[in-house]
Amino acid sequence: MATIVEPTAAEVADRSWRVFPAGSNGEYGVPHDLAVVIDRGRGCRIRDLAGREYLDFTMGWGSVLLGHAHERVMDAVVRQIVHGSNFAHVTTRSLELAERLVALSPACDQVRFCASGTEATLQCVRLARGARRRGGILKFEGAYHGQHDLGTTSLFGKEMRPWPHPEPLGAGIPDAESGLVFVAPFNDAETASDLIARHADELAAVIVEPLHRCLPPVPGFLDAVRAACSKHGVILIFDEVVTGFRLAVAGAQERYGVVPDLVAYGKALGGGHPLGAYGGRGDIMEIVREERLGGGEYVWTASTLGGNPVSCAAALAVLDEIEVPGFHRRLDHLGVCLRHGMEEAIADAGIEATVIGDGPLAQVVFRRGPVTSSREIWQSAPGLGRRLMLGLFARGVFLNPMGTKLYLSAAHDEQVIADFLGRFRSALADLVA
Ligand SMILES: Cc1ncc(COP(=O)(O)O)c(C=O)c1O
Repeated sequence: MATIVEPTAAEVADRSWRVFPAGSNGEYGVPHDLAVVIDRGRGCRIRDLAGREYLDFTMGWGSVLLGHAHERVMDAVVRQIVHGSNFAHVTTRSLELAERLVALSPACDQVRFCASGTEATLQCVRLARGARRRGGILKFEGAYHGQHDLGTTSLFGKEMRPWPHPEPLGAGIPDAESGLVFVAPFNDAETASDLIARHADELAAVIVEPLHRCLPPVPGFLDAVRAACSKHGVILIFDEVVTGFRLAVAGAQERYGVVPDLVAYGKALGGGHPLGAYGGRGDIMEIVREERLGGGEYVWTASTLGGNPVSCAAALAVLDEIEVPGFHRRLDHLGVCLRHGMEEAIADAGIEATVIGDGPLAQVVFRRGPVTSSREIWQSAPGLGRRLMLGLFARGVFLNPMGTKLYLSAAHDEQVIADFLGRFRSALADLVA
């Protein structure tokens, strides 16, 4: 029998760095000596091309909420794919999925599909601008809404400009676009409400990640933003790309009890397949109707792969699983185990840090808690975050070394978390050595 010779990690890294800038598709910024090419995954474990095994704590950046190669999702995909992958039209699967989204999402009278979270938030913003005939959008400092111009504005604070001045993330974004963005501090209801009131004539919408990166909203914050938007005729958009289907069946709307006017979905919905969705109030969604084309009150939407039947079949299987009673209770329990375990390890190591998050999400911030804003995170020790993440990576935990959030999935369990915590303790020990 022929022996399979696996390439060395260095050979794999060289191949990857030859064809991808920095050896990656833009995800992680992993140094050359840690470069990885994933070969396969099952549950919460993945294997790379050089034969190394990892515990996955990023799960396709949260898109694979049920775990890799989940039987029910695979089955649904295979059963659909033999009937065609894309028709760029309403199909049995997309119709069924749209009906289920409208039924489960309090904000949605109607929906449309796209292929990513970026498209979903972009369409919400354009819809709001079209409906209000204004260009201004207020976002919260540190929020990420996808890789479009608005989505990345003020994502990282270098200059910490005064509110509401935006900070472009890098080159390639015209000042004209940044000039339409108003920036407010998350979890500061007074400042946010005041900015909404002062700029109401310029603002089409406020867009918010209800769980801001990994920062939960303080009680009353989202309600205050909702109230200010309603009072001043500004559309409220929830970016539920992360929170949707993860914090509850109806996502952050259910978890935090606030209903927006428009909502963007992605990630977990497609079970690892390209799918996004946006929806909201019927009177706003109306303006995408194609018979209005050519008139002033019309907003263009189109997405070649949006709502393709394979992704929709996967999404229906995801919904079947997450609607099983107790699904989110178990995910929440795992999240609590992870955060408590990390906090204990941090205390034992004598390090000044806290763990933030909600549901099955966690992030270490190197300062004493409570932490409620992006500025507090940026003013902690981000260099330590990256060192810790790279330390975990080197110990066989697959995650995002930018130091952002860890994602659990339904395929994780207490045993896997205990295994992770052992590696976490060892990585922390390196930090203080
Ligand atoms: C809150 C939020 N919105 C939007 C996006 C963009 O989604 P996608 O990468 O699918 O375009 C992301 C991606 O990480 C996200 O975290």
